[in-house]
Amino acid sequence: MNVLVVGGGGREHALAWKLAGSPRVGMVFVAPGNAGTACEPGVTNVDVTDIAALVEFARSEPVAITVVGPEAPLAAGIVDAFRAVDLRIFGPTRAAAQLESSKDFAKTFMVRHRIPTAAFETFSDSAEAHAYVDERNAPIVVKADGLAAGKGVVVAASRDEAHVAIDDMLVGHSLGDAGARVVIEDYLAGEEASFIVMVDGRDVLPLASSQDHKRLAEGDHGPNTGGMGAYSPAPVVTPEIHARIMREVIVPAVEGMAADGIHYRGFLYAGVMIDGSGNPRVLEFNCRLGDPETQPILMRLKTDLLDLLAHATAGTLGQTETEWDRRASLGVVLAAAGYPADPRKGDVISGLDRITEEAYPNCRVFHAGTTLVDEQVVVNGGRVLCVSALGDSIRQAQRAAYRAVSAIHFDGMQFRTDIGFRALSRSP
Ligand code: AMP
Ligand code: GLY
Repeated sequence: MNVLVVGGGGREHALAWKLAGSPRVGMVFVAPGNAGTACEPGVTNVDVTDIAALVEFARSEPVAITVVGPEAPLAAGIVDAFRAVDLRIFGPTRAAAQLESSKDFAKTFMVRHRIPTAAFETFSDSAEAHAYVDERNAPIVVKADGLAAGKGVVVAASRDEAHVAIDDMLVGHSLGDAGARVVIEDYLAGEEASFIVMVDGRDVLPLASSQDHKRLAEGDHGPNTGGMGAYSPAPVVTPEIHARIMREVIVPAVEGMAADGIHYRGFLYAGVMIDGSGNPRVLEFNCRLGDPETQPILMRLKTDLLDLLAHATAGTLGQTETEWDRRASLGVVLAAAGYPADPRKGDVISGLDRITEEAYPNCRVFHAGTTLVDEQVVVNGGRVLCVSALGDSIRQAQRAAYRAVSAIHFDGMQFRTDIGFRALSRSP
């Protein structure tokens, strides 16, 4: 059978690669895909992004199951459009995707269902927002209510910084409609982990734990990005913390959505801050897989992904389970010059053909912002590649990934040399 992956980043390259390895899959279509998916055996790019055209493509091909990578088409109702014509698709409806597309929706939902999260208020009036900041302590966090492609969160070290962020969003309209309302919440200290599960409306199947590095610079400093690297498993998620996140966050979220009349089906990603006593608190919900977390997670997945998607869309996730490679995996993002503010396109990437199984065992390069120009792979977005590797430990996976990184080059290439440092400090 044919399957369709919607999106064109590293997460979608990893999904397409994994699905192409399934014995029951004929062709994997990726819309729009990138240079990596264009060159992946068993995978074909389709130059379609419009939802109506995707429905038409899935009907005419035909496509048996569609899986959606990014949040934007989910928030725009792609799942509603596919389901209206009885096409199988895995992802939340537009109503369910509000868990990610509106911070205010997510925060009031969490309060209503007693899911632990930072204290907050929501404002559209700047004077009220400024007054609230003056009552609270710094650091304090200002978040645009709507989707802002990773640019909507300001962790303000001082009240002054918070005031500037409020003016930028509410008065200067720096993020347009996404910033027409802001959520202001207390700062949470601790260590972050990404906890991603598959949900079929009722049953939940957790994926392996992971952790990403959101800041641009070494030591987790500098501006926020979409993610400069990730690894799996996340040692901070001990079996006890895993059980607590399931019990205190995931199960109440799925049951809470159902109680509110919204059937949640899709990947559900809780960004969780774990404090020194092991208490998990939710920083955000995403209604999709993480990027770059998906790349190392899927490197470790041994179960047939098509099987999981079939169960998830049939409402029978409770009848299946996942098997994981016991090894660790780690991915290093190579980003374009100027990322994240103003990534430069067009730089030619060299060295990709050197990454063979013989020369770099257990390594895989997932493409994100790449495209083919005259048979050359060139930079076409901020996060360009995620160089991933498996190893017997995080340290070994890290060594293997960085060895492969050193074979690749493009002008202006930026990457962090310390991906995995938090995990190494826990279990070297
Ligand atoms: P979000 O999109 O809400 O996950 O925010 C992006 C990043 O900002 C998170 O991954 C955290 O690193 C940081 N962040 C968000 N909210 C808080 C908070 N309440 N306390 C501390 N850091 C936060
Ligand atoms: N890596 C963070 C995200 O996908 O939102």
